[in-house]
Amino acid sequence: MVAREVCKDIFWVGALDWDRRLFDELIPLPNGTSYNAYLIKGSKKTALIDTVDPTKEYELISNLVKIGIEQIDYVIMNHAEQDHSGSLPMILEFFPDAVVVANEKCKDFLVALLHVDSNKFKVIGDRDTLSLGDRTLEFLITPWTHWPETQLTFLQEDRILFPCDLFGSHIATSDLFIKDERTIYISAKRYYAEIMMPFRITIRGYLDKVRALDPTMIAPSHGSIYQNPSFILDSYFDWTSDSVKNEVVIPYVSMHGSTLKMVEYFTDALLSRGITVKPFNLSKTDVGELAMSLVDAATVVIATPTVLFGPHPQVVYATYLANLLKPKIKFVSVIGSYGWGGKCVDVITKMLDHVKVDVLEPVIVNGLPDEKAFRGLDRLADDILKKHKEIKIVE
Ligand code: FEO
Repeated sequence: MVAREVCKDIFWVGALDWDRRLFDELIPLPNGTSYNAYLIKGSKKTALIDTVDPTKEYELISNLVKIGIEQIDYVIMNHAEQDHSGSLPMILEFFPDAVVVANEKCKDFLVALLHVDSNKFKVIGDRDTLSLGDRTLEFLITPWTHWPETQLTFLQEDRILFPCDLFGSHIATSDLFIKDERTIYISAKRYYAEIMMPFRITIRGYLDKVRALDPTMIAPSHGSIYQNPSFILDSYFDWTSDSVKNEVVIPYVSMHGSTLKMVEYFTDALLSRGITVKPFNLSKTDVGELAMSLVDAATVVIATPTVLFGPHPQVVYATYLANLLKPKIKFVSVIGSYGWGGKCVDVITKMLDHVKVDVLEPVIVNGLPDEKAFRGLDRLADDILKKHKEIKIVE
């Protein structure tokens, strides 16, 4: 990869990871990702903002060499997670005089995770500034976007915001700047769902602060740069709001077809009532798609067969994940079948302790669904329609 100029004396010096397909051994990356690092040359000092994943450290060094960087005065660490900090030890080997600029908590993480020498740090606080000569960096400490030490860096004169993970998107693309907002919208929403959604309320509190900075560009550490910051800010205001859509998400598994028959009937019942339905067969689905569907939906109906005495393990996994992501859903129910008994509803509803939801009366049948089961599914669809009409729904 080559370093690319963002604007005069500011360069993208990161790395594209076209092949990576999994993050944290958990999150699917259908479009790869990028680790963006930025080099800012001031009239007196030079600063590197974030580094890259350690698997790409030679690309970062090579990019710096290609643009003739012989000295780095400051390495600004917005976040300690290794995809942005992992090349810091090598940077400090190549540039031994560089000072690591980080908040107190980030310093502690970098010392613990990477064994960075604690004497290398300059510790900064919220709204502190750092002069590079003709350019000034301002730091905004914004914990829990998505770790406790996360911060944003704002380049005052150019009005460029470097938010690290916040507003990012997992996509490897040649586009330094966004060319197609529709494509990035999907990647950014998926990224929000998988990484930022558990911190929705906290992040919503930071959005006005970011808007007040009136940035001309937002340059995250994954994905392309936003030259139209309103695009991603408006999206985040929408995703983090309390409003939900007239949508039902149905994560399901079926072993012998009974639960599938219920899902198919129930999907039609919801559609005929004007409700958008998103069924996900957990044996096949990409969990990132499922997470993304949870950003807006008002209701989740979990559909499961009974394995021994509880829900199918794939349903347990999806329910556990959904609970961790803390979506703003308002209603939950369970449908499914059993052979000789079970406690599916109890197990599933007890797992959802991080979300504040009303549990709607489930529909659990013995064996193949019959007419009584279908009437039960009609009743559940009616209940959902009624509940959606009672709350604030965005179409
Ligand atoms: Fe992109 Fe939290 O690391």
